[in-house]
Amino acid sequence: MSHPPYVIDELISAKSIAARIETLAREIQGRFGDTDKLVVVGLLRGSFVFIADLVRELDLPVEVDFLEASSYGDGMESSREVRILKDLRGEIGGRDVLVVEDIVDTGFTLSHVMHLLKSRSPARIETIALLDKPTRREVDIKATWTGFEIPDEFVVGYGIDYAQRNRNLPYIGKVRFT
Ligand code: PRP
Repeated sequence: MSHPPYVIDELISAKSIAARIETLAREIQGRFGDTDKLVVVGLLRGSFVFIADLVRELDLPVEVDFLEASSYGDGMESSREVRILKDLRGEIGGRDVLVVEDIVDTGFTLSHVMHLLKSRSPARIETIALLDKPTRREVDIKATWTGFEIPDEFVVGYGIDYAQRNRNLPYIGKVRFT
C-alpha cells in the first residue's frame, strides 16, 4: 500500500518528553508509594516506548504486563467496538494497577479496557496517557495523569505510527503531507 508523501515536523522534543516523565513518575510514586507491587499495563502497540521509559523512572516494585486492544468501526464511529487481541498474562485481582496509553483520542479504547480491568477487582487502578486530544473525545473519560494535551493533529513517533511506520522516532512529530 502506498501513501502520499509527507514530512514530519517536531511537536514535542525527546528532552521535553523525558522531563515530563520524570515529573509524572514522582506523582505516581506519591500515589502508589505504599504498594507492595504495581502492575504496569501497557496497551500495545503504541505504548511500548512510553512504558519502557516510564517504568525506569519509577522507584517502586513493579511488574510489567501488556494488553492489546483493537478498535474497528462499522461505519458509525460512535458505536465503535473494541476487541481484545491479547489479554494480560497475570492476574490483577486485589493488585494495584497502572494502565499506560500512548494517546487518548475518542476514548473508546481506554474506556473499554478500564471497564474490563475493573471487572477483575483490582485494589486500585489508575491510568496514564502520554498524549490527550480532548477535542476528539466521544466517550467521557480522562486519564488520571496526562503527559501533554495536543490539538487534533496527526502525530507519530515515540511509539505512535502512521501505517506502522515512524514508531521509532525519539520525539513526537506532526505529519504534514507535501
Ligand atoms: C491507538 C492508540 C490508542 C487508541 C486511541 O491505537 O494507541 O490505543 O488508538 O484511540 P481512541 O481513544 O480513539 O480509542 P491503535 O488502534 O492505532 O493501535 P496501536 O497502538 O497498535 O498503534
